[in-house]
This record gives sequence, structure tokens and C-alpha cells, in this order.
Amino acid sequence: MWRVKSLDAILATAEKKSLHRSLGPLQLTLLGIGAVIGTGIFVLTAAAAQKAGPGMMISFIIAGSVCAVAALCYSELASMVPVAGSAYTYSYAVMGELVAWLVGWALILEYALGASAVAVGWSGHIIGLLDSLGVHLPHALTVGPKVVLGSFLEGGEAGGIVNLPAVIITILVTGLLVYGTKESATVNAVLVAIKVTALTLFIVLTIGMVGGHMDHFTPFTPRGWGNPLSSAGTGVLGAAASIFFAYVGFDAVSTAAEETRNPQRNVPIGLIGSLLICTLFYLLAAGSAIGAYGAQPLAGPNGMPYDAGSPDMAAACTALGAHTPLVCSKEALAYVLREVGHPFFGNLVALAATIALPSVVLLMMYGQTRIFFVMARDGLLPKGLSAVHPKFKTPWVITLVTGVVVALFAAFLPVGQLADYSNSGTLFAFAAVSAGVMILRFTDPNRVRPFRTPLVFVVAPASIIGCIVLFMSLDGKSKGLFAVWTILGLIFYFLYGFWRSNVRLGIENDEPLTEGPGGIAD
Ligand code: ALA
Repeated sequence: MWRVKSLDAILATAEKKSLHRSLGPLQLTLLGIGAVIGTGIFVLTAAAAQKAGPGMMISFIIAGSVCAVAALCYSELASMVPVAGSAYTYSYAVMGELVAWLVGWALILEYALGASAVAVGWSGHIIGLLDSLGVHLPHALTVGPKVVLGSFLEGGEAGGIVNLPAVIITILVTGLLVYGTKESATVNAVLVAIKVTALTLFIVLTIGMVGGHMDHFTPFTPRGWGNPLSSAGTGVLGAAASIFFAYVGFDAVSTAAEETRNPQRNVPIGLIGSLLICTLFYLLAAGSAIGAYGAQPLAGPNGMPYDAGSPDMAAACTALGAHTPLVCSKEALAYVLREVGHPFFGNLVALAATIALPSVVLLMMYGQTRIFFVMARDGLLPKGLSAVHPKFKTPWVITLVTGVVVALFAAFLPVGQLADYSNSGTLFAFAAVSAGVMILRFTDPNRVRPFRTPLVFVVAPASIIGCIVLFMSLDGKSKGLFAVWTILGLIFYFLYGFWRSNVRLGIENDEPLTEGPGGIAD
């Protein structure tokens, strides 16, 4: 189980692939921004506010900093091993099959549940938009039931049955992926422009109100700093652990390395450039929302703030009727604009999110199917899963399986909980990549490193510690779900992958995924 896949073999596989190398630094940065800006800022701002109040601004900085050091580590590996499969592939080469399997298994949480979270975020916006047009969907079809299957899957609302819009968008995206649609660079650039314009519009319309409402910033940390050793998942650190989701996706850039011109130079530029731009936007947007409307947590009759996204909180928000606090909104930024006297622009921002979020769902599901594909190709998952459709040339079996999983979770769970579950997997994968960079400096010191993580023995440990602190700051449910998921993964590995692994059986035939013409770039 400690066997490694040699870097030379991985690179040889990559060379067999014929994806066209056409992406440059600007397109990569745009790809990064396209994958990153999404539900995090447009929706989860509300959950972060419930957990930390105005102190969520510090949460954005903490989460962004952890991502920055993790991105520096990613960049070294992504530039050395510019192939698809990202964290899973790197781990296989560096730390062996078992660690790689666990990373790949954790990435299922990141990508599949992340896609569910964004689908639910999309649902919140389309529902809000339809509402403002006078079309009211029945409540039962906009949210899951209060309890689905024990406490892990609790979190809908009384009277809810299914989040239908979230299921519908997932089915549509699955169909596009089976058909072979890829995010084209042009479409991505347009969507990035839409998202950035929406955020800019929000900031321009609200930042001027900050000066007159400095009182909105006190108390600044109504729920304290948080305690990574507790299961509460609140305070500034708890919000940072959740809002981390807003930065996830920059690794899409490293996955596109195979289609990048001069990846050695351009991948790191794309990763870090997109992260910096997003952090700036997030801070300005969160600060403006707090100033313009306020972002204090909602407390129950006993004075205790509700758990973000809990059925109790949903009931309390419903009881408040119209003009609820920010923390109740499922479309935070659009809601703030509507409430501060800009209903037209609020709807415009909601429309922008409605147009742009499906591409984030698509990118996450695409990432998931490709990671599944590589794992099945390596023999760690049943090979039948990697069947390629005769006509569309896409891994259709895996895509359908992914679609069903994403739709099921999106149907029943609230966005904040899904994002937290997703983060637990992402944080694990990032920590593994950061460890891998350091290990590879010892085990393979002479390999060419087009990009070297600066101060690696400071940056990589900082990334690992940051990921651990954020992981521990998640709520008890998310940590519990991660533990259960990992145990299931171990059982599956020792029953299946351990025996069937290509590396164990000495099979070297790593057939690349031959898709129709082009890739992300076309
Ligand atoms: N960072 C992406 C989002 O916030 C996943 O939607």
C-alpha cells in the first residue's frame, strides 16, 4: 500500500495525451477566477455572518491566507507534474498508493458535495429571482425535509420535501457533461466578466454606506474567535472554516496544466493571480455588506445564536417574515441590495449569479469525473466505471454516477452544511499536497522544478497547520462525516483497490482519456 507510481510513468502518460497546449497566463487566471467565485461570496456570506458576525472579514483573510500557502505548494507540484488528477496524482507519486487513495476519496467530498453546494446556491438565487417576478414556487419544492437520515443529513425545513431547482440544474449539467460540453475559454471569460461585474456593482453601490454605519461593526466578534477543539464550528475560526469554500476551485488551474503553454511558468501565475484578485473582491464585498446592512448573528429567545442553517434557525427566520437579517438570506448579496433601496440592482446581481453559478457546478463535476476516471484507470475503482461513450467520447458511466450523487445531496441538504462537508475533504487534500512537496524535496531532489515554492520549509508547514486548524474549526457534524467517509474509504481500499491496483499487477498501460477534439481551451 506504500507503492508509488513513478513520476516518470505519470509524465509518460501525460505525453501520450494529445490535448492541445493553448492556455496562457491570462486565460489561466480567468479560469481560476471562473472556478473560484461562486456560492461562497454570493451565498455563504450569510452563514459566515451567523457564525462570526462582522468578524467574518477576518475569516475571509484567514481562509484566503491558508489558500495562498496551499496554492504555493500546489504550484510546485503542478508545474513538476502537469497532468490531470491533481492532488490524487501528486500523492500517488510521492506518498504512495494508500495516501493517494485517501486523497482521491477525500476529493470526492470536495468536488461532488461542492457541486451540490453550488447547485443549492443557484437554487436560492433562481427562487429569489422568480419571487421578485411574482412567481412563487411551493415551499415544499424549494427545500429538503427537516430530517432525512439521522443527524448527518438533518437540515432542511419543516414542510420541505425536495430542493427541486437544485436537482434540475444538476441534471442539466450532467447531461451537458455526458454530451461532452466543456467550459470553453470564451464562455468562461464571459462568465468571469459577469461575476466580476456583479461583485463590482455590489461594492460600488454599498461601500459608500459604510461610513455612516460604523455601528454595524460592533460588536465585531459577537461569537468570539472560536475553538478548534470544540464541535461548535462558530466564531471567527468557525466562519473561516466555512468561508474557505469561497476560495476552493483554484486547483482547477493546476488540473488544466496539460492544456497550458509553458505550464512551468504560467500555472503558478494563474493560481496565485486568481487567488489574489478573489481575496480583494471578497473583502470589499463582505465589508460593504456589513456596513450597508449589518451582519449580526440571529439569536433565539434564550439569547443563544442559532446554529447556522439549522431547522430551528430556518423556522425563526420564517417567523420574522419580510426584512429579515442578512443571516437568513439564501442569496446574501442580492438580498442586501434589495433591502438597502436598490431592488433593480439586487435582481441584476441575482440574475448574474443565476447565469454564472452553473459553470461552477460544471467545473466541479468535471473535476470529479476526471479524478474518478484516473482512479479507475489506475485500477483502484472498478474499470467499468471508466467506460467511454462510443459516440460522445466522454466517461459517461462515471458522469452519471456523479450526477446522481450530486443531485441527491443537493436535494436535501442546506448549502452551508454541504460546503462544510466539502471543505473537510479539500482541507485534507491540501494538507497532503503540502506534505508531498516537502517529501519530494528529499526523495527526488534533482528533478527539475520549474516553480519552486519559496521558503518551502516555512510555507508548507504553515499550509499544513492552517489546514488542520481550519479542519478542526469545522462543526462536529462535518468532522464526524469526514471520519465516517474515511473509514468507508479504507474498507473499500483493502477489499478492492489494494488487490486490483495497476501498480501492484504491473500493468503499465495507462490509456489516456481520448476525448473529442480539444479540451477546456477550445
Ligand atoms: N469557490 C467556489 C464557490 O464559492 C466553489 O462557489
